[in-house]
Amino acid sequence: MRLFILFWLLGSLSALFGVETAPTLDSKYHDSSKCKACHGHIVKPWSHSYHARSHYKKDEYFRKTIDYVAKKTFQPVNAIKVYCAACHNPRISVTSTDMSYEIKVLMGEDKNSAVNKAVNDSAISEGINCLVCHNINKIKEHLPPSKRGVHRIRWNPVGTMSGPFKDADSPYHKTQYREFFDTNSKQLCFVCHANERSIYNVEFTNTQKEYVKTDKQCIECHMGPKKEGFASSLPIDHGKPRKRMVREHSFMGGHFKQLWKGALGLKAKREGKDLSVTILNPNPHNIPTGFGARELIVEVTYRDASQKVLATKSVSITPHYRDRDGKATLPHLATKIIDNPSIPAQGEKTLTFPLVKGSKQITIEIYYRLVNDEVRGLLHLKEAQWSEKKFVNRTTLEL
Ligand code: HEC
Ligand code: HEC
Ligand code: HEC
Ligand code: HEC
Ligand code: HEC
Repeated sequence: MRLFILFWLLGSLSALFGVETAPTLDSKYHDSSKCKACHGHIVKPWSHSYHARSHYKKDEYFRKTIDYVAKKTFQPVNAIKVYCAACHNPRISVTSTDMSYEIKVLMGEDKNSAVNKAVNDSAISEGINCLVCHNINKIKEHLPPSKRGVHRIRWNPVGTMSGPFKDADSPYHKTQYREFFDTNSKQLCFVCHANERSIYNVEFTNTQKEYVKTDKQCIECHMGPKKEGFASSLPIDHGKPRKRMVREHSFMGGHFKQLWKGALGLKAKREGKDLSVTILNPNPHNIPTGFGARELIVEVTYRDASQKVLATKSVSITPHYRDRDGKATLPHLATKIIDNPSIPAQGEKTLTFPLVKGSKQITIEIYYRLVNDEVRGLLHLKEAQWSEKKFVNRTTLEL
């Protein structure tokens, strides 16, 4: 608790020395509905992505984590919302809170505060929307790695859209070419997909640190290959939309079955009295790479010559988070992580199982789950998706 207050105070001090506030979005560029008329084919896939769900009201896991962190640290829920908004809702107009805000809340004077208005503003209700990525003017790479999300960027004036084209020209908004949509787009992803830490400064995810063996851009997999299409459906090229090479704004990740199938390789062999199972990760980041409590499950089924199941075994590969008293907690409140067992980027991990007497055929299956039992239990998550097992791969060994 004391450490937490110190952490908070340090944050507040930096606020005194000037935290940038975002330019307020006006009605012309308020949210994705303002882009639909000419970029409807982009708004649609984006709206199915988890970038579009990154708001307190739209993601059960995010909401319950915020409530839990607030309860355990005796902080106002709004203060935690502002803290998390740095990456989850970067268009928020207040970027840090201080002690004077906490006092206001205690005195029951929060209702009309700038903080309360900021967290309830409809401009942030779409999470990471068009006006987050495409309104970034500059990524401040000179800042220390701990500065992320809104603290790492400089916004454009409200009506200027940054993008991948040097020759774009729109009647609705100004355009501006930026390398971080083109040759170096992973820099844009690392504004947020890096250095996720607990409030006690324990790092639980850092996709940027894992991502060392390749020059591949994240979007090659998470937005798919470049295809011929158009950027805007407005007929600006002799009465037709201008042809462009584009990608799909799908940002599919852990929540989608499609990408999981075959995402990891699986090899099995007999080694003396044991069964050796190797999980291979051809991807350029660890799997899981994402948010703290993701889980891989390896299931082994032993059958005899007549296909009768003799035994099954299941192993969970997932980190566990502990508070100062050694009790189970969430990633954001961890003082310690008990093994962080992801499969390393472009690497592998081998598990050993005993052979069961009489088995002639062994099937090994691997599944992925968004939230492990421990964290799901702490938060009482209700939606089926958090416990659903997504199929990744299967192999069979005949003995
Ligand atoms: C997480 C960041 C992010 C968000 C959110 C986002 N974009 Fe993009 N956008 C990109 C990237 C990266 C590219 C470059 C893709 C490529 O290589 O073609 C891009 C490209 C574009 C282009 C150029 C044409 C194309 O498809 O390549 C347009 C237009 C565009 N985005 C509009 C939008 C609109 C409208 C929204 C909101 C529905 C949106 N974007 C949301 C990152 C984002
Ligand atoms: C009235 C139509 C219209 C509306 C509304 C509109 N745009 Fe555009 N936009 C265009 C046109 C036209 C282009 C240029 C397309 C081209 O050159 O291929 C463009 C280009 C872009 C680009 C690419 C810029 C570059 O330099 O690469 C982005 C990003 C973009 N728009 C984002 C948005 C966002 C975000 C919104 C909503 C706030 C929006 N647009 C609303 C017509 C529109
Ligand atoms: C402004 C911060 C920010 C930026 C920039 C950003 N992301 Fe994200 N991204 C997030 C957050 C926050 C989530 C989690 C949202 C949730 O689940 O509620 C997320 C989720 C994801 C997911 C997981 C989706 C799923 O289904 O589980 C993928 C994949 C992803 N982002 C890819 C990208 C790529 C690729 C880029 C760069 C083009 C990018 N992101 C840029 C913040 C960001
Ligand atoms: C070679 C393809 C590839 C590239 C390049 C790639 N990823 Fe992934 N990523 C995957 C696969 C496969 C998965 C696992 C299936 C899934 O979650 O959709 C994944 C999962 C994720 C997830 C969800 C992870 C989880 O554990 O829930 C995030 C977030 C993510 N990637 C972000 C990124 C970012 C950021 C980059 C760039 C630094 C990137 N990816 C580059 C293939 C790729
Ligand atoms: C440094 C940027 C950053 C900050 C600050 C941050 N997050 Fe995240 N968060 C992310 C990214 C990136 C992802 C997506 C990774 C993935 O999907 O696996 C994510 C994913 C999540 C998820 C998983 C959502 C899902 O649908 O599976 C939860 C829950 C979450 N964050 C909670 C929080 C809370 C609560 C806070 C504040 C205490 C917070 N985050 C602060 C970057 C951040």
